Amino acid sequence: MLVSATEMLQKARAGKYAVGQFNINNLEWTKAILLTAQECNSPVILGVSEGAGKYMTGFETVSAMVKAMDESLGITVPVALHLDHGSYDGCYKCIKAGFTSIMFDGSHFPIEENVAKTTELVNVAHQLGLSIEAEVGAIGGEEDGVVGKGECADPAECKQIADLGVDFLAAGIGNIHGVYPDNWEGLSFETLEAVNNAVGEMPLVLHGGTGIPDEMITKAISLGVAKINVNTECQLVFADATRGYIEAGKDKQGKGFDPRKLLAPGFEAIKAKVKEKMELFGSVDKA
Ligand code: 13P
Repeated sequence: MLVSATEMLQKARAGKYAVGQFNINNLEWTKAILLTAQECNSPVILGVSEGAGKYMTGFETVSAMVKAMDESLGITVPVALHLDHGSYDGCYKCIKAGFTSIMFDGSHFPIEENVAKTTELVNVAHQLGLSIEAEVGAIGGEEDGVVGKGECADPAECKQIADLGVDFLAAGIGNIHGVYPDNWEGLSFETLEAVNNAVGEMPLVLHGGTGIPDEMITKAISLGVAKINVNTECQLVFADATRGYIEAGKDKQGKGFDPRKLLAPGFEAIKAKVKEKMELFGSVDKA
């Protein structure tokens, strides 16, 4: 069931758990995540970066595939189709293509411009029943071509953006996209607490979910995080499982080269990873 992410995240925030956003790259990814959400009776958010959208030949294709797959698989849990780190133009393209949620990443604009563009997009998204995420304080590292410096968010700016009517807010708290370096200092709970106090009941979003220790995830949820984004971790387990299959020579046995067989271990690895995260985030049986 395709829905906006507003209600599922308000419920998560109130119930002190988080909904996972898992980024999709192709049919296998989408199917694995949808099936796991259904098996876990969990709400889920399918994240699509602009790069992944382009790879899948455009947002129209992505939207058509997700809608058709959601129906053909008989998915009844709430599913949001969400643009991840959207540009201003990308947001309009996804609105037109039938996404149910968008993120406008205006964190690299001066705050006045971020405010003006976010205000406009909030109005358009809400008129059409979509949810909208905004970002303050860039997330570090690189996410599909979007590079961030990784500074912590200013709580006053968070309040300013939250007051524009966005439905959930990503605040930089020392989190980084991709694998964390050995010298990573961990999440800044001081910043998270200050942001949480500044924005009231607004569901907060934790990007860069890959590799954050479980106890930090649990603490972040207790401080208002209701959406956690995971991308790289699914890519890593997919690559590992596929490598294992090929290194064991299984693609050379019988029809082992058939893509439906070749991609099966990676598919199962994504399912297992998504299940593990849903259990950790507490979203199982919350559909
Ligand atoms: P990771 O790739 O580090 O899991 O981050 C995902 C993310 O934040 C998507 O916006």
